[in-house]
Amino acid sequence: MAGLIPQAFIDDLLSRSDIVDVIDKRVSLKKAGKNYTACCPFHQEKTPSFSVQPERQFYYCFGCGAGGNAIGFIMNFDQVEFPQAVETLARDNGMEVPREESAAATRKQSEHAKVFEVLERANHFFQYQLRKHEKREAAIDYLKARGVSGEVARDYALGYAPPGWDNLLTAIGGDDAERALLLKAGLVIEKERATSDDMSESAPRYYDRFRHRIMFPIRDSRGRTIAFGGRVLGDDKPKYLNSPETPVFHKGSELYGLYECRKSGSKFRRMLLVEGYMDVIALAQMGIQNAVATLGTATSTNHLTRLFRLVPEIVFCFDGDDAGRTAAWRALENVLPLMEDGRQVRFLFLPEGEDPDTLVREIGEQHFLARVEQATPLENFFFDKLSQGIDVKSIEGKARLSNLAKPLIKHLPRGVYGQLMLDRLAQTLGVTSDSLQLLMAPKPGPSEEMPPPPPVPEYRPPVGNGTELANTYKPAKSGLAAYRKPASLKAIELLLRNPEIALDLKQDLSPLETAEDEGRKLLLSLIRLVQQAPDTETFTLLGYCYGTSLGTQLTQLLKSETITPTEGLEQEFNQILDNILSDIVRTLERLQLKSQLNSRFGATNANKEHNE
Ligand code: UTP
Ligand code: MN
Repeated sequence: MAGLIPQAFIDDLLSRSDIVDVIDKRVSLKKAGKNYTACCPFHQEKTPSFSVQPERQFYYCFGCGAGGNAIGFIMNFDQVEFPQAVETLARDNGMEVPREESAAATRKQSEHAKVFEVLERANHFFQYQLRKHEKREAAIDYLKARGVSGEVARDYALGYAPPGWDNLLTAIGGDDAERALLLKAGLVIEKERATSDDMSESAPRYYDRFRHRIMFPIRDSRGRTIAFGGRVLGDDKPKYLNSPETPVFHKGSELYGLYECRKSGSKFRRMLLVEGYMDVIALAQMGIQNAVATLGTATSTNHLTRLFRLVPEIVFCFDGDDAGRTAAWRALENVLPLMEDGRQVRFLFLPEGEDPDTLVREIGEQHFLARVEQATPLENFFFDKLSQGIDVKSIEGKARLSNLAKPLIKHLPRGVYGQLMLDRLAQTLGVTSDSLQLLMAPKPGPSEEMPPPPPVPEYRPPVGNGTELANTYKPAKSGLAAYRKPASLKAIELLLRNPEIALDLKQDLSPLETAEDEGRKLLLSLIRLVQQAPDTETFTLLGYCYGTSLGTQLTQLLKSETITPTEGLEQEFNQILDNILSDIVRTLERLQLKSQLNSRFGATNANKEHNE
């Protein structure tokens, strides 16, 4: 049986979600001072008396008295019970609801509260040091040299961890319990004990994690400090030190600057995603408040989901160098499944050697924003990157491009955007969207469109066999020209050169459905493809062949051989096809005969045959 939902989880969930997002998704909110208003969804009214207070994470209707937190709102609005509402909210935040015994959960909750508290005390400590510590000059000078204003330092609660091993430890690690909390909050590090003798010492010894660094508190969307980043004042390594994972800090899903952005009170329709703390701060100082940074990790689905809950558009800012482009492509791959209609993603590639911090200080807010406006739309980056080094005019290039684009486009949610991407691909390839749709259709495998082959025992006839791909195939007395390559491969090659030859086939193709051999299966698929869509072009077929084990071989064939004259091609194709079909029929007949013999002479022989 599922246990109780731990209170600590609910707290965590509520702290990671924002009631404004939750409600705004269901009822359109308007900002009014610190709060948001709307017409109450729970009773009929013409003037808004429904209010949402982000600070208290609470909603209230002055008209009907309805009120509560985010979970309560979901219960009321979605008409669901408490556990379901928690599930909904958790899913929106990419979290899984744990179940456990309540005693342990309560303990966890109060532990979280204590960790938050010690982090807040540390935050105050660091800010105080920036104002009062005797060695603060170095820190102040550093910030000044980087152009950080006092105002923005205050807004982002910048601080200073002075030099020394135990400043924080002495200030807020008075007893064992406090030291244990500092450790849990990631603020101190436990010394390694060199010898087992040391084990006898009663108190564990710790030292401050952050020393002689500018401190950047990382805050959750409610403004609680959950971690820190610390930067050296000079060129030492590591440049930035971040808090480790703790019960309240999950690096891979946090965004630096999100709280500060929302606190600014403006409602944005796009967010900029940058790489560094200093980028966020410099942009904010220059008047661009809608920028957030990942914390030295790659952009995750989690980050993106959070941002798309706030705004319909994300602009990624990356370095224009190779590393930046690689990171941008990774971000693109992550964002594809989230590209629902109405959402937009663009990429701002910065000049080499610049980051948003340096660039915005150099060219100013207006010019920077102008570049944001001009940023490369996802679809352009997508096709430019995929077409790199490919000659999209050649058949082979078209096949290659469609083969690269296919699996990625499949990740897009169904909708207008996905369709537009398909149209764009079709346009680039110079084919109709319909013919492209065919290319996107799943390949018929034994378990898909085609009926499964009958359960025949493995059997290898002496001639005209199913192992024809082994390149040793020589047709027996068939009257065919002696092809060195497997018959089915030759047939496919002819089909690729002139797809129309599949249109007037008189043969009964059903024996081919039982083929287990790659080449024969592919041949049948391609014939069917052309029969379904008579204007299917070579490159479409070739793209279809990619991804099968024969893809490369076929491209090689098409590339290397001189163009065969089209006349006689159809006849040749028919001959090969006839030959393959009769080969299959002969094999089937032999098998049938064998199984009849087997059933007459008993199971022992049949088994023996099976194992041959
Ligand atoms: P950057 O080196 O681009 O950061 O690293 P930045 O903000 O531009 O640095 P400066 O202060 O202007 O020189 C981007 C992000 O990667 C993480 C940090 O989160 C940083 O903001 N990082 C970088 C680390 O965690 N550790 C490092 O040693 C370096
Ligand atoms: Mn920088």
